[in-house]
Amino acid sequence: MKIFLDRQSPKPIYLQIRDRLSSLIKSGALQGGDRLPSIRSLAENLQVNKLTIIEAYNVLEADGVICARQGSGYFVNTQPLVSANLKPTFAPEQEVIIKEPGGNSFFDMHMAAVQAQAQPGMIDMSFGFPRPPKNLMQIAKRALKQADALSKYDLPQGQLTLRRQTAQMSVHQGLDVSPEDLIITNGSEQALSLAMYHFVQPGDWVIVEAPTYFGAIAILENLGAKIIGIPMTAEGMNLELLEQYLKSHRPKLIYTISTLHNPTGLTTTQAHRQKLLALAEEYECPILEDNAYEGLNFEPVPAPIKALDKHDLVTYVGTFSKTFMPGLRVGYMVVTGKHYQAILERKLFHDVHVSTVSQAIVSEYLASGHYRRHLSQLRAENIHSRNIMLQAMERYFPAQAKWTVPKGGLFLWVQLPADIPIEAMTKEALSQNVLIFCGSAFFPDKQGYPAMRLTFANSPQDIEQGISILGKLLKKHLDKSGERMVRSQTLVHSI
Ligand SMILES: Cc1ncc(COP(=O)(O)O)c(C=O)c1O
Repeated sequence: MKIFLDRQSPKPIYLQIRDRLSSLIKSGALQGGDRLPSIRSLAENLQVNKLTIIEAYNVLEADGVICARQGSGYFVNTQPLVSANLKPTFAPEQEVIIKEPGGNSFFDMHMAAVQAQAQPGMIDMSFGFPRPPKNLMQIAKRALKQADALSKYDLPQGQLTLRRQTAQMSVHQGLDVSPEDLIITNGSEQALSLAMYHFVQPGDWVIVEAPTYFGAIAILENLGAKIIGIPMTAEGMNLELLEQYLKSHRPKLIYTISTLHNPTGLTTTQAHRQKLLALAEEYECPILEDNAYEGLNFEPVPAPIKALDKHDLVTYVGTFSKTFMPGLRVGYMVVTGKHYQAILERKLFHDVHVSTVSQAIVSEYLASGHYRRHLSQLRAENIHSRNIMLQAMERYFPAQAKWTVPKGGLFLWVQLPADIPIEAMTKEALSQNVLIFCGSAFFPDKQGYPAMRLTFANSPQDIEQGISILGKLLKKHLDKSGERMVRSQTLVHSI
């Protein structure tokens, strides 16, 4: 197999390898069932790092062109992965949601989900967690040796070493930040809270995507904000509607998840990011960009909106919860310009600083060089389990269900027919040991359209079993609503 690499080209090497393998498959030179060269042999042959080959294979796997078989290597897929549902036509019918202050169900929902997760035999498709790193004990032991830092108070913005490492990591994601612009926070939830309480006063309007992350909606509800939910399309937040509401309501903040959006899994394009920022500049509205799933992308993604920001209008939020360990509670925020000091002071009186043990463990992991490999493995596992979930949904879900095909992250979003009683179905699923998040949780009015968020970060067996149970429930409810329709039509005819 000949693969010519142009080392002067701006196109990354792994994408050149991806393109060459794709065209060999398209031309028939490589056929369904053919085994691809091992990672090591191809890396030696092309004189590139093994990680470069892993990245290329990851992308091909995400496209459904090849698949990994445990212990045997990579093979060309005999059939393309899926599906009518692959087409990027995610555009549910929906209207802008206007939500006045009041109501907050986040506490009850969080408690119920955490308790349900702990039940033996539960298939947890609700939260998505990364697999813990293999060498955690060694890392934690090394981190604990830094007794000095543990026996006194530290800086509210976090340890300089960790801020330096986080800044370096951000550069790889296209975001050139300095350690002085970073604040290490207790998970990104705290970063969201610090930023929202800084930018928004009770009674102010705030723009969010609909659907969006329920933990962000909860903070806004708690602080008494009025929320405008702008519909999500396949490209991201509908920008025409955004402009309309920027003009009419003069909101104080736009909250957006530009990369691997929770819950839909969608990533916006560079053009969408530029337009969103231009609108925010025109209407002088700060942006809070929450990219909790950054780093879990199967394909290259554009740099964050913060990278385009020349007027300190964007506050960026990230976390180690989705790529490393949620229990450590280490997140961070990038705040530039005049807002930094005010937010830092707020952080100090909240909790002084993030646990130095947690910071030291993350720092040690980043320093050990294992983090990049861990991310690469996570991505490979996640693609595999995403594909298994897509195939299971093809088999078990009714044709009326539609879903997104995320190119990374931990979730996909299933849009359901209007007559599915999704809240009741979520409870029924729970009684059969399948835990999911009902789509209504992700809309500011706690309604939206019928949908559910499913995490694919699960074992193949759990995915198969969970999806088959959900599929049966969906079909049962569709049959029932079909019967209801026939009955009401018969009634109309007999009147
Ligand atoms: C989009 C988004 N932002 C923030 C968070 C909060 O995560 P953490 O506080 O663990 O960093 C989550 C958690 O699910 C999330 O999905």
